[in-house]
Amino acid sequence: MTITTFLEQLADIEAKLQQQASATRSDLEKMFLSNNGLFTIISKQITEVEPTDRKTAGKALNQLKTAIETVLASSTGREVKDKRWVDLTIPGEKPEVGHVHPISQAMAEITGIFEHIGFTRVRYPEVDWDWYAFESLNMSPSHPARDEWETFFVDLPRSDEKGQVVLTPHTSNGQVREMERLGEPPIRMINIARCYRRQQDVTHTQMFHQFEGLVVDKGINIQHLKGTLDYFAEQFYGPGTKSRIRPFHFQFTEPSFEVDFSCHICSGTGEIAQDGKTEKCRFCKSGWHEVGGCGMVHPNVLKAGGIDPDVYTGFAFGWGIERTYTLKKGLEIDDIRLLYSGDFKFLEQF
Ligand code: DAH
Repeated sequence: MTITTFLEQLADIEAKLQQQASATRSDLEKMFLSNNGLFTIISKQITEVEPTDRKTAGKALNQLKTAIETVLASSTGREVKDKRWVDLTIPGEKPEVGHVHPISQAMAEITGIFEHIGFTRVRYPEVDWDWYAFESLNMSPSHPARDEWETFFVDLPRSDEKGQVVLTPHTSNGQVREMERLGEPPIRMINIARCYRRQQDVTHTQMFHQFEGLVVDKGINIQHLKGTLDYFAEQFYGPGTKSRIRPFHFQFTEPSFEVDFSCHICSGTGEIAQDGKTEKCRFCKSGWHEVGGCGMVHPNVLKAGGIDPDVYTGFAFGWGIERTYTLKKGLEIDDIRLLYSGDFKFLEQF
């Protein structure tokens, strides 16, 4: 190799060195000084230069080496700066964890409250025969009381004995089903299921949940019913909450009542004292919240379930989980449709 070619190659390497001057120390070492680094290769080629030119070549090689060392020296510490350091002492970021929907939470709570006093949780079909939803509950096919339930009828072949298929508008369809399942009292069931009705506004959604209690045994009377309601009120809404029953009419209970719970905001008084004045409680207006219905099981319903009403008596109650839940202290949700909005901002609060 001529000395000119050798010097030209050194100049090329020097140019590369200047270009890479801001690289990290380890990259520079790899590129110029490793076994197949540019400087290592060219320094071996000195033997190919004419012996008379070797002194010049050696000098130039030394200059290049010095230049490389200068650049390396200025790169010291750069690696440390460029590396991403992980501080293992910083607390980790928690991954987001979902949770059970508030209505599922309420269902679990209600189930627990009733299981504690010997009720058994059951589930009955949400798509059921007219017989279980109405007829066995003392509502003949053309009975006007049926209007209350704004029912969706399903376009399926009807059964001669059990009538048309419906989306259950209430969990009372579980009453006769439970009597059939057990055959004989004692019965203590809590039936929780989805229900459907053709209505939608701030207090109604077309799909909602109800829970239905049914107790049948010898000697069951209204005191057992009232005691059960009072127990539930205190357990679900907190100590001091009272239940109230008012005469009403349902086809499947006799006598029948509507059920109210005392308002926790005004403690059932209907009034709130503020700045020395008393005002009407805006949450309940009357001291009470109406939640559902109850009563003593009608003899015709017991008969439909194959139970002798001369031997056994029973009570039943039922109402919506959404409404019951939204009245809880601290929630006071004024539009139950929010529960099914799929809005995380709302749901994450529970
Ligand atoms: N099923 C009724 C409704 O959806 C509520 C109800 C009333 C249930 C009286 C009962 C009862 O068990 O005895 O409005």
